[in-house]
Amino acid sequence: MNKKKFAIIGVAGFVATRHLNAIKETNNHIIAALDPKDSVGILDKYSYDIRFFTEFERFDRYLDKIKRKGKGINYLSICSPNYLHDSHIRYALRMGINAICEKPLVINAKNLDSLIALEKETGTKVYTILQLRLHPSLITIKEKYKNTKNTHEIELTYITPRGNWYDTSWKGDISKSGGITSNIGIHFFDMLIWIFGKVKHYEVHYTDNKKISGYLKLETANVKWFLSTDKNDLPTDNYKPYRNINIDGTNVEFSTGFTDLHTKSYEHILKGEGFGIKDASDSINLVHNIRNTKVIKPKKEHIHPLQIKKINTLKWNTTNTNRHSLTKM
Ligand SMILES: NC(=O)c1ccc[n+]([C@@H]2O[C@H](COP(=O)([O-])OP(=O)(O)OC[C@H]3O[C@@H](n4cnc5c(N)ncnc54)[C@H](O)[C@@H]3O)[C@@H](O)[C@H]2O)c1
Repeated sequence: MNKKKFAIIGVAGFVATRHLNAIKETNNHIIAALDPKDSVGILDKYSYDIRFFTEFERFDRYLDKIKRKGKGINYLSICSPNYLHDSHIRYALRMGINAICEKPLVINAKNLDSLIALEKETGTKVYTILQLRLHPSLITIKEKYKNTKNTHEIELTYITPRGNWYDTSWKGDISKSGGITSNIGIHFFDMLIWIFGKVKHYEVHYTDNKKISGYLKLETANVKWFLSTDKNDLPTDNYKPYRNINIDGTNVEFSTGFTDLHTKSYEHILKGEGFGIKDASDSINLVHNIRNTKVIKPKKEHIHPLQIKKINTLKWNTTNTNRHSLTKM
């Protein structure tokens, strides 16, 4: 098989090593990398020949030069902050390069339309990382419920503690990350929609800068959901992320294997079977709507159990949108 040529944007960040590993493990070449931060010694683990740039303009010049020599790259892996994704994807497509972009593809759902148009104009493809769809336990669940006609009762709980740095970084800035739902919740919303069908109704019951909870009606499931980056919400004190989906009273275990699915994602993409814009759009629309909806006082039977515990301390704020509540921190 011909080795494919890759460049990577955001290479000094946390998730980039999963992409570098995936490129290596699928036996392909990393040609060039870009990041304004130059803490990228890790590149030597992969090759001594990777061209590294801290300025976009020089990166662009290099990619253009090798393209003109007929040695252009095939894929651009995008690991930059969420608010830069659509710009970096557009750059790839205009250069005639397929984009492999981290989630979420965009923060603002309406920006997907121009990416779809650009795919058509340039004959290139946008792929994204929806790794939970490749998780063995969740594939089993999808198979189990594929012909279901009943409505299932689900509790989704995801607690992934973060320190003070999170609020100071782009991840804590809703205009750059989209907030907790876009940043950490989108995988779970995508997975639920993938298994239980389209969104019929959504509610937000509580939100602050560390957590958010609400209720969702899908075609074949009602979901009480709770997402948190607050260590005080963890059920144990081991500081490990807690992921749980309870379906009709039964817990589905998928705490392990969550972080090892980038190589599998790349294998799918390289076979032309990767997840694209259409696959990602329902969950992007949902988190966009959740971000902009009003926090409501819910029916008691729709509240997530972890939120119920705190119900007496809540002040229901029906005048502010979720976006306003999140930005006031
Ligand atoms: N699929 C997953 O499980 C998963 C896990 C973590 C993060 N992510 C996603 O990966 C992306 C990166 O997250 P992260 O945790 O690695 O963040 P990070 O902050 O650790 O890394 C982002 C990198 O982008 C660089 N950057 C900033 N502006 C840039 C620009 N203009 N051009 C090029 N690079 C730029 C930063 O210097 C930094 O090195 C995000 O979209 C995030 O949502 C996905």
